[in-house]
Amino acid sequence: MSTPVYIAFEGAEGCGKSTQARRLADALGAVLTRETGGTIIGQRLRAILHDTAVTDLDDHAETLIVAADRAQHLAEVVRPALAKGRHVVSDRSVYSTLAYQGYGRGLPVDDVRAINEWAVGDTWPDLVVLLTVPDHVTADRMRKRELDRFERAGDEFHGRVQSGFAEMAAADPRRWVVVDASGPVDEVSATIRTAVRERLGL
Ligand code: TMP
Repeated sequence: MSTPVYIAFEGAEGCGKSTQARRLADALGAVLTRETGGTIIGQRLRAILHDTAVTDLDDHAETLIVAADRAQHLAEVVRPALAKGRHVVSDRSVYSTLAYQGYGRGLPVDDVRAINEWAVGDTWPDLVVLLTVPDHVTADRMRKRELDRFERAGDEFHGRVQSGFAEMAAADPRRWVVVDASGPVDEVSATIRTAVRERLGL
């Protein structure tokens, strides 16, 4: 049996992350999970985070809520699965917090990282698949649904988030793989599958 690995998908809203995470998890026979909201406690935290009636959530409090979701998720889902020898595929991870609360909200990225080091311990993703799509694709997909609190944050915020992801990917190329997700779903899945095989031998 191969050593169990923890793979995270990251990217903008509407980039196809959830579909691709599900497909990869199916292909690998992995546990499929997500942040935020991958546990019952996490779903309650997620409800606060996404509620458009919540207009006064402090950025520091927001950061601690996503970190709390993560601590619970790692303890309840990810570590037990890895301990049983299962691979884990997660729709978002600690890197979303660095991108959204650090680069996006403008909190010092080193502080956000330090809080998350405490929440995450040693359980950082072995591989991060960053899906990129042109801005107009994200904008088109967003137009089709009712926006949550993050989606309403505006183009500049989302621009900073995407630059943050790109910067982190460039700084740590052994851990990150960047995949253009603008093509047909099957093609994108095949590219991801090949990358995972090359990087992790799976
Ligand atoms: P989702 O639609 O992919 O589930 O993402 C939900 C939103 O939550 C998305 O706008 C990104 C945001 N988010 C953060 O701001 N910080 C985090 O740590 C995570 C996991 C998500």
